[in-house]
Amino acid sequence: MKHEEVRIRHGRRSGLPLIVAIHSTALGPAAGGIRVRRYPDWRDGLADALRLSEAMTSKNAAAGLDFGGGKSVIALGPDVDLTPELREAALLDLGEVIESFGGAYFGGPDVGTGPDDMVVVRRTTSRVFCLPESQGGTGSSSAPTAVGVFEALRAGATRVFGSASLSGRTVVISGLGSVGGLLARHVAEAGARVLVSDVDDSKRSSGYEWVLPEKALRTPADILVPAAVGGVLSAELVPELSAPMIVGPANNQLTDESVADALAARGIVWVPDFVASAGGAVYILLREIEGLSHAEAMSRVHAIGDTVSSVLDAARANGSTPLREALSLVDARLAGSR
Ligand code: PHE
Repeated sequence: MKHEEVRIRHGRRSGLPLIVAIHSTALGPAAGGIRVRRYPDWRDGLADALRLSEAMTSKNAAAGLDFGGGKSVIALGPDVDLTPELREAALLDLGEVIESFGGAYFGGPDVGTGPDDMVVVRRTTSRVFCLPESQGGTGSSSAPTAVGVFEALRAGATRVFGSASLSGRTVVISGLGSVGGLLARHVAEAGARVLVSDVDDSKRSSGYEWVLPEKALRTPADILVPAAVGGVLSAELVPELSAPMIVGPANNQLTDESVADALAARGIVWVPDFVASAGGAVYILLREIEGLSHAEAMSRVHAIGDTVSSVLDAARANGSTPLREALSLVDARLAGSR
């Protein structure tokens, strides 16, 4: 096992399986969001927590943050009715697990949670970020995450199309959640034609052109943006992709690392997810822990574009892949900590 520590607990209030995975604290306390999601079995939630916490180590390290990687999962079975009462009980239970780490892990929002949930978690642990601004927190991390992805898009477009301008480009956004929705707006404002899809059919009313979720990844476009859950880019799918560039906020987009080679072999530029999606982590951790101002933290979010440029340049110069170059950035930081 590559992880430092994993705690799994049956919640005493909720009866739900709670998982906190700490992948690494080499650079500092582990930080990563709290995911509430349905899984066929709680062990699938455990597998997700292991993958996601490792990705947080890479995300925080590549972004130059002095934080390690961790993640929490509240695993809902297929039949669980998540009433507001059960949700509150589970968040209080999870806060206790987080508190039991004594500061080695800090949680925040993720898929299935938001600032209001963090207020509940705060009742059983102080190690939690992104409370609403009215409660002294920085609120949702979605806005800086979307800005970071937008900068990654522009940096990628410079390398792939010779210009950072998105005007006239067709961009498919797969997943219109809190980050995908904001990103759609940025990209549309930049003059791109935006196509969106979501598993939630009610999002059809978003006002953008709609593509069916099962077709989204194969839709002809200049840029494909995975903005939902992970595991969407597989070896089987690579031959069917049509966008020459893929960049988005979804964590763990590749089913395994070899997919990065298959993408490169097809000439598709894939910007590593943990680089592109770091805006939320950068903003929250710099503001809430390091005490930086909004403007200072946002300028670090904008710098994600520079990181993307240097990763893509290095991949081209070394004949390697963006994933390999981004991971060597991570390795260099982790080696420096030893
Ligand atoms: N969940 C988001 C992410 O995966 C934001 C987050 C970062 C939350 C760091 C807590 C800590 O990046």
